[in-house]
Amino acid sequence: TSSTNIVAGNWKMNTDVTSGVRLASSVAAGAVAVPGVQIIVAPPFVSLAAVRDALAGSSVGVAAQNVHAEDSGAFTGEIAPPMLVGLCDYVIIGHSERRQFFGETDESVGRKAAAALQHGLRPIVCVGETLDERESGRAVEVIRRQVVAALADLDPEAAGSLAIAYEPVWAIGTGRAATPDIADQIMGGAIGSTIAAVLGTDVASETPLLYGGSVNPANAAEFAAVPSINGALVGGASLDAATFLEVAAAF
Ligand code: G3H
Repeated sequence: TSSTNIVAGNWKMNTDVTSGVRLASSVAAGAVAVPGVQIIVAPPFVSLAAVRDALAGSSVGVAAQNVHAEDSGAFTGEIAPPMLVGLCDYVIIGHSERRQFFGETDESVGRKAAAALQHGLRPIVCVGETLDERESGRAVEVIRRQVVAALADLDPEAAGSLAIAYEPVWAIGTGRAATPDIADQIMGGAIGSTIAAVLGTDVASETPLLYGGSVNPANAAEFAAVPSINGALVGGASLDAATFLEVAAAF
């Protein structure tokens, strides 16, 4: 497991430039009291530049919520990896909402992750099974398939800057978080062993694994206590600075 825990706030399609800058500034002000945790905020694309400027000089990192796999071209409405260079350090890839509502596939997630890494952006690749997949006993199989696909095109030399978020779809925005046991089975088990099989044990041991899905100040500590969990990807609870910082402090 990696040494510095990561707590990333995925703002999803919330905040405008003004409120995003305000939120980021509040997070930065409070982050000084949470040393030893890499705090990241992921605003909508339109706020990346303003949030980056608001965070100048702070330890808080910036992530984009998506990226295209190509460097340029006729892809109306899309954002290419080179456009993000200088705006953010990280990029969330393959969030279940992108898979569910925007047609992203295991294959496109793999291409996006490889493209991001090529441009020096650190991918936070999301994987997670649906409720149906879990109830039919296929969770481990689905997670393995998603991780294999996400890693398929990566340059192994650059793979050390990858992070993976385990977000069971049934736990996202539902208030029904996974149990630490379930998270550990998948993260310490299926995800860790799949990374090791594809990229080797060194990369596996260095790759931060984040849990996501209804993380809040009341349950963060129990996830933080699990050795296979190196941080959290937080949705709803990241939209209020004090709440988000409470989660971060638990890690
Ligand atoms: O990316 C964040 C996750 O989708 C979790 O969202 O904390 O609102 O359940 P949530």
